[in-house]
Amino acid sequence: MSEPRFLVDSYLEWAKGEGIPIVEGFGIDLRAVETKPWARLGANGAFVHTLGRGDYMNLYVVDIPPGGSTEPQKHLFEEVFFVLDGQGSTTIETAEGERHTFEWGTCSLFAIPLNTRYRHFNGSGLRPARLCSATNLPLMLNVFHNEAFVFDNDWRFPERLGDERHFNGDGDFLPMRPGRHMWETNFVPDLRTFKLQQWKERGAGGSNIMFILANGTMHAHMSEMPVGTYKKGHRHEADFHVFTVSGEGYSLYWYEGDKDFERFDWKLGSVFAPADMLFHQHFNTSPEPARYLAIAFGSLRYPFTASKRKTFMGMDVDVKAGGRQIEYEDEDPRIYRLFESELAKKGIEPRMDGFFPDR
Ligand SMILES: [Fe+2]
Repeated sequence: MSEPRFLVDSYLEWAKGEGIPIVEGFGIDLRAVETKPWARLGANGAFVHTLGRGDYMNLYVVDIPPGGSTEPQKHLFEEVFFVLDGQGSTTIETAEGERHTFEWGTCSLFAIPLNTRYRHFNGSGLRPARLCSATNLPLMLNVFHNEAFVFDNDWRFPERLGDERHFNGDGDFLPMRPGRHMWETNFVPDLRTFKLQQWKERGAGGSNIMFILANGTMHAHMSEMPVGTYKKGHRHEADFHVFTVSGEGYSLYWYEGDKDFERFDWKLGSVFAPADMLFHQHFNTSPEPARYLAIAFGSLRYPFTASKRKTFMGMDVDVKAGGRQIEYEDEDPRIYRLFESELAKKGIEPRMDGFFPDR
């Protein structure tokens, strides 16, 4: 008789069976991840499992060699790509034979419309390209625990394709209110130059945009912190993966009641994910504005969980009013002092005056 099966994680079993490295950590330098040949993609890859990844999503990196391509893929899970380095193109083909091709470069963001066939090509004959993918495969495999259903399924989702312009780098701006303005598209050519919208409630002259990608449940947003500033601390459920787009700095994180903070220093290539209800706060120590991209499961259009819905409504609301954010005037005074001393090391002046009621 075979052993009874219990406490099964169907996604993790599948991932181990793929035969590529699985890298784990609170924060990870995606540029330094070692990849190995991955038969499924016909390219080198590695899974990246952050400790705060939650139950629904994963990351992997894939390297496309100079002049090379990946094997065509088609699957019943959502996938969002952030280009870490390189340039190339992706071709998407629907079941009806419609083809869409777009050209990406470093800091492009794009999504694969659900269950369409796609293939990546490296556009350089000299340099490799490295992409990071965020998917909801853990959710799908743990629900169905049937690999063929997820990877060999012909159901069509025409409502996920969107307008032709959404494959060409254009999109639709959907104004909501500060912090919730949406840009609907399938492809953002360069996050570094994308226009953001003011969001003063999250602190210190910051700005952001919420992306709706391929009409999906995978979420992405991008935020910018001006020079000499930091955002207010806040907390929410697990799975928001924070990628550096430009600049460098650090984030502090702590649980309610902790005496001290933990710290993660970030730069280009970094990703980290605060765990469930872990307070965290981002600090820009660069001589330039710092941008970060966050990818999660549960989008502003389709939040998926009640908790995500509450986060999207309460992420800039004071904890004293039932929200998720610590206002500047309520924060631990060590937070500002540390920021000031970190900036001093680089000869940068803090620009936080006017954001504290008493300063
Ligand atoms: Fe956050």
